[in-house]
Amino acid sequence: MKRIVIFASGAGSNAAKIIAHFAGNSQVEVAAVFSNKSDAGVLDIARKNGIAAIAFTRDELNSGTVLSLVEAQKPDLIVLAGFLLKFPADIVAAFPRKIINIHPALLPKYGGKGMFGMNVHRAVSESGDAKTGITIHYVDEHYDNGDIIFQAEAELSGRESCEEISKIVQKLEHTHFPTVIEKLLN
Ligand code: GRF
Repeated sequence: MKRIVIFASGAGSNAAKIIAHFAGNSQVEVAAVFSNKSDAGVLDIARKNGIAAIAFTRDELNSGTVLSLVEAQKPDLIVLAGFLLKFPADIVAAFPRKIINIHPALLPKYGGKGMFGMNVHRAVSESGDAKTGITIHYVDEHYDNGDIIFQAEAELSGRESCEEISKIVQKLEHTHFPTVIEKLLN
C-alpha cells in the first residue's frame, strides 16, 4: 500500500480532492494530514475521512519534531497542498524526490516568498498575461524552486478579475493534482 502524507495550512480543497480520489483505492491511501494551523479546515476534512489529523507549531516544524512525526508515517509521497511555510531542510533531505508542491501559476513566473493565493492571481491579472495555470514541482529548500513535474495552462482575455483567475486556476488544480499524484506513485 503506497502512503501519502499531505501538508496544508488552509481550507484544503485540494486535499479533499486527493482524499476523495484515492478513497477505496486498494493500492494507495492518504495516511495523514499535517497542518501548522490547529483550526485549519483541512484537519476537519481529514477527521471526517478517518485520517490522522496532526497539527504542529512552527517551532515543532523547525526543531525536528515534525520530521520524526512524518518518518513515523512511512510516506511514499509527501504532498504540499496549500502549505504556506518553507519546508525545513532536514525534512527535504530525509525525503529526496518524495516531496511535491502545487503552485497556482506557471513557474518560474509568479513564484517565491509571499507569492501565494490572491497575491499570485493579482500579479497575473496586473501583468495582462494571455494565460495562467498551475505548476506541480518537487520541493527543495527554496520556495517554488524544485524541478517541474507538470504544468497545465488556461487562456486569459486580460480582463479577468483576481477572483475569476483564482476560480480558473482552482479548477485546473482539482482536475490534475490527484491524477499527477497517482502517476507518480505508479
Ligand atoms: C492552492 O491555490 C494551491 O495552488 C496553493 O495553495 C492553495 C491551496 O488551496 N499552494 P486549498 O487549501 O487546497 O483550497
